[in-house]
Amino acid sequence: MEEIDAAGLRRRLRPRTGIDFCSNDYLGLSIHPQVKAKMVEAVSDAGCGSTGSRLIRGNTAEFSSIEKRFAQFKGGKAALYFATGYAANLGVLEAFVGRNDLVFSDELNHASIIDGIRLSRAKRIKFPHCDIDRVAEFIHNSPAGSQKFLVTESLFSMDGDFAPLASYAELCRQTDTVLIVDEAHAVGIYGANGSGWVEHTGTANEVFLTVNTAGKALGVAGAFVAGPDWAIDFLIQRARPFIFSTAPPPPVAAALEASLNVIGDEPERRQALRKNTDLLRGLIREAGIEIGTSDSQIIPVILGQNERACSVAEELQQEGFDVRAFRPPTVPDGTARLRITVNANHDESTLRRFAQALEKKARKCSAVCS
Ligand SMILES: Cc1ncc(COP(=O)(O)O)c(C=O)c1O
Repeated sequence: MEEIDAAGLRRRLRPRTGIDFCSNDYLGLSIHPQVKAKMVEAVSDAGCGSTGSRLIRGNTAEFSSIEKRFAQFKGGKAALYFATGYAANLGVLEAFVGRNDLVFSDELNHASIIDGIRLSRAKRIKFPHCDIDRVAEFIHNSPAGSQKFLVTESLFSMDGDFAPLASYAELCRQTDTVLIVDEAHAVGIYGANGSGWVEHTGTANEVFLTVNTAGKALGVAGAFVAGPDWAIDFLIQRARPFIFSTAPPPPVAAALEASLNVIGDEPERRQALRKNTDLLRGLIREAGIEIGTSDSQIIPVILGQNERACSVAEELQQEGFDVRAFRPPTVPDGTARLRITVNANHDESTLRRFAQALEKKARKCSAVCS
């Protein structure tokens, strides 16, 4: 613990206070009246817990119905619902990747992807972030005879930038590499129907499986793995986090029906998110604050040192803005940051007030302002 403290890495559980600039509730669906009502109704009808794993008595009608619905939303054949995105990534990677396989993995991929690859015991070949040339080189130079996988997030959770999915799809087609995409931060937001960055980039036919968390823009909890029928059936046979765990509460699945309805019926939420994102990113850039290659609702303000990120976050919290510092190992060493997120419920005056406060605090940090 002393070492953790000395490195400025002590994590603390803080209460939720202030205006939300840190959650993943991008569309505000966690508090949408229809989503809340559907969950309450389901609790009244069917109770709280699922009572067992999906393979035993935990497989209620809500799960089958939402999986079918999600598969349609994603434009594919089938989907399987996991209790969390973390469990989904472990399940997918352990089930499909074998110890003699090669996994090409973006260096900024989420911990759940890294842990899934570890569980698979395959060789992980880390490639520089979103670097299509380097990953192509690695794949072309890899030994023949092993099954190859390319695994990436579509929208990166800590940098807010997008993977070059169309280029990856082309590369994977040419090199017989299996493409798996984690849509955690893109599902519900991007593409004409809001099903994610795969839809936006028209790469669905080249992507084998997507992992789509349901606790972020969808506002509830859990994650859907979407893909071909046979692959979903295989997960039911092999995905250990799915098989050996109690199913999530069925009302959670019921609430997700409402989330998908809202995403279809209220495209103005996605438009508001885009407008708010453009406004805040513009204001922050105008203030001369570096936000890297962010092109989305996730805006990183990289402050470098852990203590510096914590103290700027603290000062913003004192002004009523809920902003959190992200430190290693969540982000690479020396890149501690504020991870600012925008949501559809922000209004313009709040965004302007926040940008002013951020500018004032960040100006104190000479390394940040140009
Ligand atoms: C890219 C990515 N994948 C997976 C997960 C895990 O999802 P969950 O929070 O549902 O476990 C996260 C969570 O932040 C994430 O950012």
